[in-house]
Amino acid sequence: MSRAQSVADLTRAEAADELDALAREIAAHDAAYYQDDAPIITDAEYDALRQRNLDIEARFPDLKRDDSPSERVGAAPVQGFAKVTHAVAMLSLANAFDGADVDDFIQRVRKFLTLDAGQDLKLTSEPKIDGLSASLRYENGVLVRGATRGDGRVGENITENLKTVSGIPHKLPDGVPEIVEVRGEVYMSASDFTALNDRQKAAGKSEFANPRNAAAGSLRQLDPAITATRPLRFFAYAWGEMSDLPAQTQSGMVALFAAWGFDVNSDFRVCDGTDDLLAHWRDIEARRARLGYDVDGMVYKVDALDYQNRLGFVSRAPRWAIAHKFPAEQATTVLLDIDIQVGRTGALTPVAKLQEVTVGGVRVSNATLHNADEIARKDIRIGDTVVVQRAGDVIPQIVRVETDARRPDVQRFTFPTHCPVCGSPTARDLREDGEADIVIRCTGGLSCSAQVRERLKHFVSRPALDIEGLGNKQIEDLWAAGLVRMPDDIFMLRARYGDNPPDFWRYTSGAREKIGTLKDSVVKLFDAIDQRRDVALDRFIFGLGIRHVGETTARILARHFKTLEGFQAGGAALAQEDAETREGLEAIDGVGTTLILALQQFFAAAENRAILDALVAAGVSPSPVGEAETSGALAGKTIVFTGTLETVSRAEAKVRAEMLGARVAGSVSAKTDIVVAGPGAGSKRKKAEELGLTILDEKGWLKLSEQTSEQT
Ligand code: IVH
Repeated sequence: MSRAQSVADLTRAEAADELDALAREIAAHDAAYYQDDAPIITDAEYDALRQRNLDIEARFPDLKRDDSPSERVGAAPVQGFAKVTHAVAMLSLANAFDGADVDDFIQRVRKFLTLDAGQDLKLTSEPKIDGLSASLRYENGVLVRGATRGDGRVGENITENLKTVSGIPHKLPDGVPEIVEVRGEVYMSASDFTALNDRQKAAGKSEFANPRNAAAGSLRQLDPAITATRPLRFFAYAWGEMSDLPAQTQSGMVALFAAWGFDVNSDFRVCDGTDDLLAHWRDIEARRARLGYDVDGMVYKVDALDYQNRLGFVSRAPRWAIAHKFPAEQATTVLLDIDIQVGRTGALTPVAKLQEVTVGGVRVSNATLHNADEIARKDIRIGDTVVVQRAGDVIPQIVRVETDARRPDVQRFTFPTHCPVCGSPTARDLREDGEADIVIRCTGGLSCSAQVRERLKHFVSRPALDIEGLGNKQIEDLWAAGLVRMPDDIFMLRARYGDNPPDFWRYTSGAREKIGTLKDSVVKLFDAIDQRRDVALDRFIFGLGIRHVGETTARILARHFKTLEGFQAGGAALAQEDAETREGLEAIDGVGTTLILALQQFFAAAENRAILDALVAAGVSPSPVGEAETSGALAGKTIVFTGTLETVSRAEAKVRAEMLGARVAGSVSAKTDIVVAGPGAGSKRKKAEELGLTILDEKGWLKLSEQTSEQT
């Protein structure tokens, strides 16, 4: 999708489409970052996506989606660890990119607090560590629980792993408050990272892309003994629930953390205003490469806790703090080659193969090139000297070509006209406005082995079928061994090889660590596959990888069609241009023409219909969704929240409503059942009154939701 267009020029329809695309795109990047620890784009690019989403929402507030990325932080927790609901949510930070942004921040804070020029406002300044945040709960001075941030509301219980991290005391001194939750960043130092990667390499294991990923991978080990072998550290910088606040300032709290035995950052300062903050920022930025650990900026926080309290939070970040980012680190190297990767939907993604270079302490040999237009725009040619940058992220970008250094014989890069994997012609899609899309695709569909493999990976992935022990690596192995070609083959493995398991498992390196003997592991895999025969229909539909069908849409479709047979029949009818089916879909809130077209195209292809039939024949029988929720008073109801909620966040209210089977919509219509209106509710409340809908205040809503959850 082209993001060249200024937000001010977008039509409503374009804005809606783009918000839809952004929601999906950002969710995919969140999953890659938080669940797979393998980000696909740079932090800067990710921030730009989020910013664009916010900008479009600011211009078209009523188009804000239920699943808007601006309502979420990170991704849901992965399986394998018990879930922990944070007593106080773990939030994120807003970003400042230059001095003017910092100044704006301070002015906003002063205005909010109605401070006049003579009144002093102290701020703390400290490095923003590029690691993972963790929350440590102490009861009567004893560490009882440690958790990851997860999606900010619910994280994973990784207590045993956190106990192996240096800088985290297991016991606090006498006299600390009864309940103490200390929060901070788990990270790996640059030298420990290099040493770990050398060990990984020597052991024939895959290396980590950067210290952050190494820390994440180490912390998420199901076996704490493995975590213990990984040199992790911790800096304390924040807190969650506290039965008693033992200090009045941020700096006072951090000093106490140090006194209690936590590591705190030695570059922590209390500053007096913008100039002071910026001087500290410049000092650390100059010493950045020598700090010995990755930082991606500075964090400024209002020092006085009573001010922090008054300032409070806006959606996912506190009003009293901001992250002031450092510019990306750069280096010069040579572009050796351009690889073309083929994705699930056939999209061709160019990847730069670079002569290895160290950028900000990390060895780099690949960079993303995004798409053909990007290569043409930057006139990137194989053999060129290029400037690469990384901004605390994994896959670096090519910033520009040093054209002065270009040898006269280097050729312009021509994007392949045929798929490098299957040889089918490549093409650009036509967008709704008739323009050619930026993405170039292989037209081979299921005759392209790359597309088939990527679709299989998506099918078994966590948000889809979620088959334990069957990840990307195993799919590649099964494919290479010729055991799996189509999704139904997965469900036929036991029938075909149950008595005599093939030894594909010995190729899967990661499994060796976790699972004992070969045979056990295969049996375990077959069991895991069998367990997913009755996967929830929404996961199943999502797993099919139909374009424009994200998790939310899949849930809507699953609720609408109820059963797999219903979905198949509906899809087939749609492919036959059946008006009734089409109208049925159009009537659903959240279903648009793009989606209907995508469904129609999916079912028009005989090969896709055959896949569904084969899955049914292989004994896959997805279960209807929302059974548990169909009983309560809120099941199937559409709720709109408007105005300010005082006791819970909008996000929390939404999650709660959804848990009770309701759907949360962004705008009021005749399809709305309940409007929860807080102070400041305007046009939505008015519309609800005109339509004669049920209107509740926050108290009424809390009462209703509590009653409902007791019943269900
Ligand atoms: S304060 C409520 N301080 O940055 C505010 N965060 O982008 C809590 N981070 O989730 C955050 N260093 O993982 C804070 N010195 C620091 C930090 C820091 C790194 C991370 C943290 C947070 C993320 C927000």
